[in-house]
Amino acid sequence: MSNWKKRLEAGALALVALALAAVPYCPAAGGGDRQALGEAKIPAGPYVALTFDDGPRDATTPVLLDGLAQRGVRATFFVIGENVEGNELLLQRMEGEGHQIGLHTYHHKMLDQLNAAGFYAEVDSLRATLTALVGREEFMLRPPYGMMNAATQTRAAAPIVLWSVDPEDWSDRDTARQVSVILDNTQDGDIILLHDIYPASVDTALQVVDALMSKGFHFVTVEQLFAIRGKTPENGKVYRKLPPEE
Ligand code: NI
Repeated sequence: MSNWKKRLEAGALALVALALAAVPYCPAAGGGDRQALGEAKIPAGPYVALTFDDGPRDATTPVLLDGLAQRGVRATFFVIGENVEGNELLLQRMEGEGHQIGLHTYHHKMLDQLNAAGFYAEVDSLRATLTALVGREEFMLRPPYGMMNAATQTRAAAPIVLWSVDPEDWSDRDTARQVSVILDNTQDGDIILLHDIYPASVDTALQVVDALMSKGFHFVTVEQLFAIRGKTPENGKVYRKLPPEE
C-alpha cells in the first residue's frame, strides 16, 4: 500500500470529518443531502481548495492563519525552503491547525531547468526540512511557475499539484479584481492559486471564503479533496482540480 493511500485512509478521512463538523450546516449545500464516506458523514459539497504559494512570510501569513481559523477553514501552503528559515514556528502552527503543507522548492527554482542533482538539492532538502519540523514524509509538490517536464515527474516522488483558478494575484494586488475573477470561475473541485506573501492576497482569500461559504462551498485541503473524491494521489502524476465524478 502506498504511503499516500495509508495517509488518506488513516488520517485525512478523519480530518475531513473533523473539518466539516466545524463548519456550520448550510442549506445551500443541498438541503439534507449527505453521503456516507467510510464512517464519516460529510456534506455533498461543493468543495474547493485554497492553495498559497511562496510563503511563509511573517508579515502576512499569520494574518491569513488567524482569518482562516476564525472561519474554521483549512488550506494548503506550498512553501519555499528559504522562507521557512526563521519561520519554523509558523510551519508548526499550520500543521497544528490542520492545514496541509507542500513543497515549492528550496529557492523557487524552475524544475524543468535543473539536472537530477539540482532537482534533488531543491526538492529533497525542503522535504527533509519539513519532515524535521512536522514529523512526516508525504508532501505534495507544486513546481514554481508550474514549470515542469517528464524528468520532473519521474524525479518528484510526490503527487504534482497545479491549479484550475488563477487570479494572477502577483500582478496587481487588486483585491476587488481578484475576488471577482475567483467568484466568476470557481466550481466544485477547483484548486485556487494565491500567494500568502501579499497583504492584498490575504484580503482576497478571506473575502472569497466568506462569499463562497455563503453559497454553500466547503473549503478543504488538497489531500482532503482527494479523500472526499475517494482518490489516491499518485507520485509523478499531475493534478489541476478534482471535480466530482460524472
Ligand atoms: Ni511560486
